[in-house]
Amino acid sequence: MIKPRLWITRRLSDATIERADRDYDLVVNFEDQPGTADQIIAASAEFDAIIPCHSELFSANVVSKLNPRLKIVANHSVGVDHCDLDAMKSKNIAVTNTPDVLSDATAEIAMLLMLGAARHAISGDQIVRDGLWSNWSPSFMVGKQLTGSRLGIIGMGRVGRALAVKARGFEMEIHYHNRTQLDDNDACGAIFHNTVESLLEVSDFLSLHCPATQQTNKMMNKTRFKMLPKGAVIVNTARGGLIDENALLEAIISGQISAAGLDCFQVEPGGNPNFAKYKNIFMLPHIGSATSKTRDAMGFRALDNLDAFFAGKVPADLL
Ligand code: DGY
Repeated sequence: MIKPRLWITRRLSDATIERADRDYDLVVNFEDQPGTADQIIAASAEFDAIIPCHSELFSANVVSKLNPRLKIVANHSVGVDHCDLDAMKSKNIAVTNTPDVLSDATAEIAMLLMLGAARHAISGDQIVRDGLWSNWSPSFMVGKQLTGSRLGIIGMGRVGRALAVKARGFEMEIHYHNRTQLDDNDACGAIFHNTVESLLEVSDFLSLHCPATQQTNKMMNKTRFKMLPKGAVIVNTARGGLIDENALLEAIISGQISAAGLDCFQVEPGGNPNFAKYKNIFMLPHIGSATSKTRDAMGFRALDNLDAFFAGKVPADLL
């Protein structure tokens, strides 16, 4: 049987590439640079399937130029804001993602960001590292305690719920806003708010877990930062577009926000150079799902979707 031709746009885990090579006529971009529009368009004439990451943009313009040979885009990501789903649907291209498997890894990074931002991880590390730790005082690097604080979660999907479970271990009081209220089992005791505004009022810590859409773009803006309790900590492991970065900077400078933990930025890669001098902004380079266990699981989930598709079945994660 002729194997379908598959292009993997980035260097995925070894186990993923090994399995893909066994089952597909495979080409991998081992240079591991984001696929450009031209590369994606050219690949569509040579491949039946692509496994991209969130770094490859399938905009309406790119999709309009795709060759009909390309049948499926099996994303190696849960987020699909890099894909114009309507355009892909109208070209009859199946699109899948990789939910579930990265929830714990991403929730762990949200915990790290909360702790690191609240407890001065950047300044503390730098002082010791630079040999500048010459004094100790009880008033030195006094931070904000998670235990007993209120955590607001916007978007109580899989990652939001995984964070709630972990934060409960820190004895936080958990509140959430979601399009729909979860049943008691899924909510794990978290308190529902039917508006973002009502959630913000009680969020000593706020963590964002909703998809980037036109509706959520810059949802954390100047007005909403002011609704948080003074000195709140904000964490973002979802997408940079959810935060108005100028408004965040203003809130940091005024002290309305005491610290931020960010794994995502409006501009990626690169981040926001204006944040660099604020040590109370703890930053990571979009590594929420970057554990070897999760990378294998994401790769395998993308391949499971492809396998189902080429076996004539509906892939589990078809969007
Ligand atoms: C995702 O899966 O959406 C993560 O952001 C990594 O791409």
